[in-house]
Amino acid sequence: MTTEHGSDRGTERSPGANGKPHEKIAGGTVVERVTHQEVAAICALYKKVVETQPGGLPVELLKGWTPTPLEFTSWMEGVTYFVARREGRLIGSVGCEIRHGACHLVHLVVDPEFRRQGVAGALIGTAVDWARRANAAVVWVDPLAKLTAAVGLLKHLGFSEVGVLHKHMWAEDVRVFERQI
Ligand SMILES: CC(C)(COP(=O)(O)OP(=O)(O)OC[C@H]1O[C@@H](n2cnc3c(N)ncnc32)[C@H](O)[C@@H]1OP(=O)(O)O)[C@@H](O)C(=O)NCCC(=O)NCCS
Repeated sequence: MTTEHGSDRGTERSPGANGKPHEKIAGGTVVERVTHQEVAAICALYKKVVETQPGGLPVELLKGWTPTPLEFTSWMEGVTYFVARREGRLIGSVGCEIRHGACHLVHLVVDPEFRRQGVAGALIGTAVDWARRANAAVVWVDPLAKLTAAVGLLKHLGFSEVGVLHKHMWAEDVRVFERQI
């Protein structure tokens, strides 16, 4: 499956829910803006991801990744979320927030049953397109160093590591990645 942003291989644009365009990626994954009707499904996805994470992550991080529907609705006020769906099932999500001309990606998750199939790459590709249209000059992400899948993903997608913040969040190292767009 094509995951690299900038490649049109295996992708097509067509009207999605509510007539808005969405991106269909080979393998049947569709990436679209989240709708208010999906708040319960997205909260269930975050809960599933947290419950299946290997141990060793700070409890505060895990708690922060399990919003209630009310909390997620309030996140949506400041952050633009995209979701990935396959056959109508919500299988991934990423949030984008723009500040000072830079787009920060947050809360990136993919359902454990659908990993290593390019879903995160598709979500980030859509987020980068959106950030570019919003005139951001750079997209950046700051995973905990322990999140090795995220680190592998960002390197795979051509992000550069621009720094490490030592013992920055809950006494954990944070790695900072960015990509000029
Ligand atoms: C990180 C995460 C979003 C990746 O989602 P995904 O859909 O499996 O990623 P993709 O299939 O798009 O991966 C594309 C490439 O990234 C790299 N990658 C992805 N997962 C990896 C892993 N566990 N280890 C090493 N490299 C990995 C690989 O190069 C992969 O290509 P390949 O499968 O052909 O080898 C997912 O593992 C996840 O939800 N993890 C828990 C939450 C999390 O860490 N979120 C990130 C916060 S910043």
